[in-house]
Amino acid sequence: MIRKPIFAANWKMNNGASATEDFIKSFLSKIQGENLPCDIVIAPPFISLPKLADLLHNAATGQNAHAIQIAAQNCSQFDSGAYTGEISVLMLREFFVHYVILGHSERRAIFGETAATINAKLKKAREGNLKPIFCIGETLAEREAGQLETVLRTQITGGLDGVSEKDLAETVIAYEPVWAIGTGVTATSQQAQDAHAFVRSVIAELYGAEAAARIRIQYGGSVKPGNAAELMACPDIDGALIGGAALEPQSFLEIIRNGSATAE
Ligand code: PGA
Repeated sequence: MIRKPIFAANWKMNNGASATEDFIKSFLSKIQGENLPCDIVIAPPFISLPKLADLLHNAATGQNAHAIQIAAQNCSQFDSGAYTGEISVLMLREFFVHYVILGHSERRAIFGETAATINAKLKKAREGNLKPIFCIGETLAEREAGQLETVLRTQITGGLDGVSEKDLAETVIAYEPVWAIGTGVTATSQQAQDAHAFVRSVIAELYGAEAAARIRIQYGGSVKPGNAAELMACPDIDGALIGGAALEPQSFLEIIRNGSATAE
């Protein structure tokens, strides 16, 4: 296996510090003694990062804690200064944050993030040595209008504009069809595989075959314990970005277990 599967929990605006503590204690006790051949990442709200960092990097919680890496759900494209409400990459690094979710469809649709903003954030994240989880995906209207490939290509070229091959190697792509996010409707494994293969082919055009073969592409959108195995068995799917089903330790663990069992 050249690509290690990566399962990331995107908690969105759920789980403050005390709920984070409850989740992590329960999750760590559940993964005790498990051999999970994948990367496990948790992206809590900013306000819960200190608690998460403390729990995972404090010897008291034991060595299992090191199996989990921390992600932020966003970062600023600026270093510091008069940007009310923003959080910089360096601030995130103080709390052992290694990944950052960028370009999520909720950021694009609700907060108006453009391709240029996402691209600036992605470059800033790499400058500070964070690994971007770069999200792309089409709406139902775009899919039905036959625009799937155009939309994905535009998002990829916009988000990765000027990003070096070296920085791409530290980037994860998350393909998340917008119509499958939080709706309970999952893409069929064929729809997901086709989109992933297309994304990989665009990366091959832009960066060459080797970079394309190496990049991890997660699927996101109503991933559950019951559909993880089938999705992860697809050759171009290398893990999952999970919202709702990652709010509960048992269901997050079952997705990781079922998904990493079939990941190729
Ligand atoms: P969902 O969210 O698993 O609740 O569909 C996925 C995401 O938005 O990353």
